Amino acid sequence: MQLGALSLFVAISVHFAHGAVYQSLQSLPTRNYDFVVIGGGNAGAVVASRLTENPRFNVLIIEAGPNNEGVLDLRVPFFNQQINSTYNWNYVTEPLSGLKNRTIPFARGHVLGGSSSINGMVYTRGAADDYDAWARMTGDQGWTWRSLFPVILRHEKWVAPLGGRDITGQYDPRVHGVNGNTLVSLPQSAPRDFERRIIQTTRDLRRDFPFNLDPNSGNPLGATWIQSTIGNGERSSSATGYLNTDVRRRRNLDIVLNTQATRLLTTRSGREPDIRTVELAPRSGGSLRKTITASKELILSAGAINTPQILLNSGIGDRRDLSALGINTIHNLPDVGKGMSDHVVTVALWNTTGTAIPPPGPADLEQWQNSRTGPLTEFGGKIFLWSRIPSNSSIWRGNRDPASGRNAPHIELATVNFGDIAGASIVLLTPKSRGSVKLRSNNPFDPPLIDLGYFSDPFDLVALREGAHLAKKLFTAPAWAGFITTRFFTLDPDTTPPDVFDDFTRDLVTSTLHPTGTAAMSARNARNGVLDPDLRVKGVKGLRVVDASAIVAVDPDRPHSSSGVYTG
Ligand SMILES: *[C@@H]1O[C@H](CO)[C@@H](O)[C@H](O)[C@H]1NC(C)=O
Ligand SMILES: *[C@@H]1O[C@H](CO)[C@@H](O)[C@H](O)[C@H]1NC(C)=O
Ligand SMILES: *[C@@H]1O[C@H](CO)[C@@H](O)[C@H](O)[C@H]1NC(C)=O
Ligand SMILES: *[C@@H]1O[C@H](CO)[C@@H](O)[C@H](O)[C@H]1NC(C)=O
Repeated sequence: MQLGALSLFVAISVHFAHGAVYQSLQSLPTRNYDFVVIGGGNAGAVVASRLTENPRFNVLIIEAGPNNEGVLDLRVPFFNQQINSTYNWNYVTEPLSGLKNRTIPFARGHVLGGSSSINGMVYTRGAADDYDAWARMTGDQGWTWRSLFPVILRHEKWVAPLGGRDITGQYDPRVHGVNGNTLVSLPQSAPRDFERRIIQTTRDLRRDFPFNLDPNSGNPLGATWIQSTIGNGERSSSATGYLNTDVRRRRNLDIVLNTQATRLLTTRSGREPDIRTVELAPRSGGSLRKTITASKELILSAGAINTPQILLNSGIGDRRDLSALGINTIHNLPDVGKGMSDHVVTVALWNTTGTAIPPPGPADLEQWQNSRTGPLTEFGGKIFLWSRIPSNSSIWRGNRDPASGRNAPHIELATVNFGDIAGASIVLLTPKSRGSVKLRSNNPFDPPLIDLGYFSDPFDLVALREGAHLAKKLFTAPAWAGFITTRFFTLDPDTTPPDVFDDFTRDLVTSTLHPTGTAAMSARNARNGVLDPDLRVKGVKGLRVVDASAIVAVDPDRPHSSSGVYTG
């Protein structure tokens, strides 16, 4: 997990460096770069920002989307839901056979900051067991929770919510960083009756739903106050955190926007092809093509959908699939785009005695503009419950546990309260189903084929039924007397026949948009996988993948395939 040895050539290029944000490929001057980062998203912005701390490295970021700066919808946390198609790749999945051929819109950030500019801003690190599983799978101790914890702290800047409410007892300051780039906070508004009833339930049903002071300590199990990548009332993305004004002024960093990487090109073929050249095109189409060669490395950070798409378009993938599309294989790497894991989500809802919470209005926007306070500074529920499927459940007959360890949850209950209706989203964090990203054609502008593979493994449907049991246990606890009344819209897992319940689940579920594992890392000498533990593409020189495509976890029933772990 190091970015490789420095070469001695670096000093020369300093003279050519300018440091600017270019709006188009046409306007990008011809220069030499040490590193070319494809994708200014969640990971790419961080990598480029850290690399250019060293003035000897010249770096170019290629971003398909526009700038994030000055866009109100990307700054106001509550406006998350109204971010328009300009900032989204607007993908739609293939018809999903496990969902009776339903398709699902699959949002991906198309803007600097990538999906961190448009997501739900939940800050969850996952379980220590997840990281330790990566270390076991790759044989690289650098991936353990213990090794990465200092890096996690370095990344974070914990900030108190504006308004100064007392947050004692709602988080553990010992597991947070205060000097990093990504702002993290608890909500500005104080807990309401709804949250107080959940906290009461942690006392009444301590065995099932213990209170956990902090979801980010390495052990998330229990009921936790949710932390968000929000600071001072605004969204914090990898673009606001790592490509701030000071970083953009660096003379050794160029950013080109509205530009799509169409293919990676090999400059030397043979047993280990050398791949440091990228072909670029205006995102809006047209015939202009430019190629840029990195003197050190190409870093592919296009995300779990676009990274495999670009690899496949370049002839790096399964030879059989590529030749069927008329793409010449430069490097036969069958696992590219395969083994995708994603978190499927369903919901359980109840009518309540409360009244509907009115949506924010113009006065709330004025308040946000004047003081960065008020209801627009928040988004989503305040408490999540992270649970294990009980060990005496019949699901364990015939299935080995897909969780990475005993402190890794299977189910996330993301509580929601609309006033008159309340309940929880039920997220499966340990799916056994796998999907894929494939090419539709050899045209790099065609959207890829996204198959989430939901319910291809029967474990997942049964696990969601277990999640519905957990949600029912939570909301029928004594603390809800006088608030929760009858079930709303969703089915009771106790009184509904399992096949009817599952059929309804197929109609109901959607995606949390957490794809991982499409360019999986594996042990250095393993034949499966796409990346080595240092995230270099196996069998190739000069090319690294740095994004969630690399993320894997072991499925004990499938020792050689990869799967995702939850990322919030
Ligand atoms: C999306 O919103 C931005 C401003 O936030 C606007 O400039 C752009 O035209 C909008 N795009 C669409 C497709 O509505
Ligand atoms: C889904 O589509 C496939 C392929 O077109 C078809 O064979 C199948 O019957 C469809 N399933 C449903 C439930 O419509
Ligand atoms: C629950 O609420 C919905 C709408 O909010 C209503 O249509 C339904 O009748 C309610 N159910 C019961 C049993 O009160
Ligand atoms: C599992 O154990 C719990 C408590 O020990 C019990 O309430 C529950 O009925 C058991 N479930 C099954 C399926 O045996």
